[in-house]
Amino acid sequence: MTIVTQLSLLCLIHLFNYIQFTKEDQSLSQITQSGWEFLPFDNSIPPLLTTTTTTAQLIYCSSLCNQRSDCRTYDFDHNTTRCRLWDADTTTGSILISSRSQSVVGSIRFFSNIYRNIYNQSCDKCIQSRYSICDQITNTCQCPLKTYWNGSICTAQLFQNQTCSTANACRTDLNLTCEPQCDRTFRCSSISPISVGQTIVGSCNGTIGIGSTDLQGPWGIYISPIDGILYVADCDGQTFNSYSPFSHTGRIVLSNGLIQPLDVFVDRTNTLYMVDGSVNQGTVFIQRPGTINSSIPAIGLSTSSCLANELYAAYGVAVDQYGNIYVSLFLCYTVVKWIPGAQNGTVVAGQRLSPGSSSTKLKYVKFIHVNDDQNAVYVSDYQNNRIQKFIIGGNRTGITVAGGAGSGTGFNQLNSPAGICVTRDGQTLYVADYNNNRIMKWNIGDTQGSLVAGSATGISGETAQLLNGPADLALDPTETYLYVSDYNNRRIQRFRLR
Ligand SMILES: *[C@@H]1O[C@H](CO)[C@@H](O)[C@H](O)[C@H]1NC(C)=O
Ligand SMILES: *[C@@H]1O[C@H](CO)[C@@H](O)[C@H](O)[C@H]1NC(C)=O
Ligand SMILES: *[C@@H]1O[C@H](CO)[C@@H](O)[C@H](O)[C@H]1NC(C)=O
Ligand SMILES: *[C@@H]1O[C@H](CO)[C@@H](O)[C@H](O)[C@H]1NC(C)=O
Ligand SMILES: *[C@@H]1O[C@H](CO)[C@@H](O)[C@H](O)[C@H]1NC(C)=O
Ligand SMILES: *[C@@H]1O[C@H](CO)[C@@H](O)[C@H](O)[C@H]1NC(C)=O
Ligand SMILES: *[C@@H]1O[C@H](CO)[C@@H](O)[C@H](O)[C@H]1NC(C)=O
Ligand SMILES: *[C@@H]1O[C@H](CO)[C@@H](O)[C@H](O)[C@H]1NC(C)=O
Ligand SMILES: *[C@@H]1O[C@H](CO)[C@@H](O)[C@H](O)[C@H]1NC(C)=O
Repeated sequence: MTIVTQLSLLCLIHLFNYIQFTKEDQSLSQITQSGWEFLPFDNSIPPLLTTTTTTAQLIYCSSLCNQRSDCRTYDFDHNTTRCRLWDADTTTGSILISSRSQSVVGSIRFFSNIYRNIYNQSCDKCIQSRYSICDQITNTCQCPLKTYWNGSICTAQLFQNQTCSTANACRTDLNLTCEPQCDRTFRCSSISPISVGQTIVGSCNGTIGIGSTDLQGPWGIYISPIDGILYVADCDGQTFNSYSPFSHTGRIVLSNGLIQPLDVFVDRTNTLYMVDGSVNQGTVFIQRPGTINSSIPAIGLSTSSCLANELYAAYGVAVDQYGNIYVSLFLCYTVVKWIPGAQNGTVVAGQRLSPGSSSTKLKYVKFIHVNDDQNAVYVSDYQNNRIQKFIIGGNRTGITVAGGAGSGTGFNQLNSPAGICVTRDGQTLYVADYNNNRIMKWNIGDTQGSLVAGSATGISGETAQLLNGPADLALDPTETYLYVSDYNNRRIQRFRLR
């Protein structure tokens, strides 16, 4: 066998050198000097064998390893006279100096050039390849089981408690996932149960943080549909912060001269809309990549007359796919729409300075949500303890999609609702039921909701299961997790939905 011949020559002469094969299903190995051993987190079942010389044994083990695409490390164990094969490598285990002097460890080498013309290409590129497998659905070459794409190679997935930084970095076959931990790291751990919150920002146990990236009072939140970055309006800290996925460390996006950051929105062009909305004023600051920062209104006018060219007591913000900006005006009892470039807004829900509980009126307006596909704006009608849905450009008559049965803890009731969000398909509404310290889910059309997080009876607390003043919520782009700004606990919690 050519493999054996080539390998034995090189092994005899230069340990630590690489052996290059040309065929796709062959591999490049690195062999340590004698006296090393591999410390694995996990190993696959080793086959038995007996052979004579050390070199022949290693070559045999090497060829066994090469036949299995999940094998990344191997040695010959003299004590048991077996080849040991591992699916772990130095990214998940380590090669250490061994007390057993005859031990030699071999490992398959993985280089980005191996993948350059294979990975994510059509399946004819990876027939018989040990480096990738054909994904039948997309007909493309993808990483084999127990590995993930790290941007340049298919590298071994990580085991329990190892530090991770991407969603699929952990051993999916062992049901591990990359989750935030109380010590403010992200580590591979068992998928946490639904309704147990994971702390993304702040302290998981109610201890109030004072670090520069901690929050003093998170209010509105949003997650970029483009890159999954979490944006937080830290109302009490008077800043807008951003947090990259798999990072607990934030960055201040805007801070100068803010009075009361209340809400934030990011659109599909990664433009940021940030509401500074104290009682006496209201401004939406706009940061569009590559352009000069702007705001609406251009000049910070604001009077209690709730005129069309001002945003008095601005609260929540949402933007549709055409760039129309919707802003709720807490003390004007309306939601207004500003088309791109407009100097004035128009009322799309509620009646200016006319609070009420009929279907055409609102009584203090908190957060809003716009669903493009539905052409609808959802409004958190705070003091009416209900969520109203309005058709954009319709007759301005709202229909109640959650609550509306008075203030209380019944599952058909809400108590001072704040943040809302709706799934892309328009079928499910999530509500931050602020005074009930809970998150409710309402299927559109139902007359009562169900509990997603927090206490059914409204109890507040700082444990992973409880909330204390949930202000706003946001879905991640895959709609797998619901993020909640847990205001009084000064933290952002995340709940798995499925
Ligand atoms: C060799 O194997 C025996 C039995 O499997 C075990 O008790 C012993 O510790 C092993 N020795 C070494 C050096 O691994
Ligand atoms: C794989 O190819 C698809 C389609 O060309 C592309 O959208 C995707 O970003 C690629 N993925 C990676 C990780 O390169
Ligand atoms: C992927 O993993 C390999 C091996 O650990 C490493 O050398 C490489 O830098 C990683 N690539 C990226 C883009 O992280
Ligand atoms: C996980 O790793 C950390 C840091 O290495 C360590 O302090 C902790 O005890 C480990 N947890 C478990 C369950 O092994
Ligand atoms: C992973 O989860 C699935 C589905 O719950 C289960 O069938 C399987 O046994 C689990 N695997 C491990 C290694 O725990
Ligand atoms: C709470 O968590 C923080 C880290 O977020 C830790 O420093 C602190 O010791 C924990 N306190 C308690 C009482 O567990
Ligand atoms: C917009 O504002 C941000 C935050 O204050 C700042 O970093 C950025 O440089 C500004 N962009 C322009 C074009 O002025
Ligand atoms: C904008 O609103 C202001 C205040 O209500 C009003 O005076 C002005 O005429 C409006 N401008 C336009 C173009 O409608
Ligand atoms: C408003 O329009 C909706 C349909 O969008 C309709 O069901 C409703 O009857 C209308 N209400 C009034 C008062 O016209």
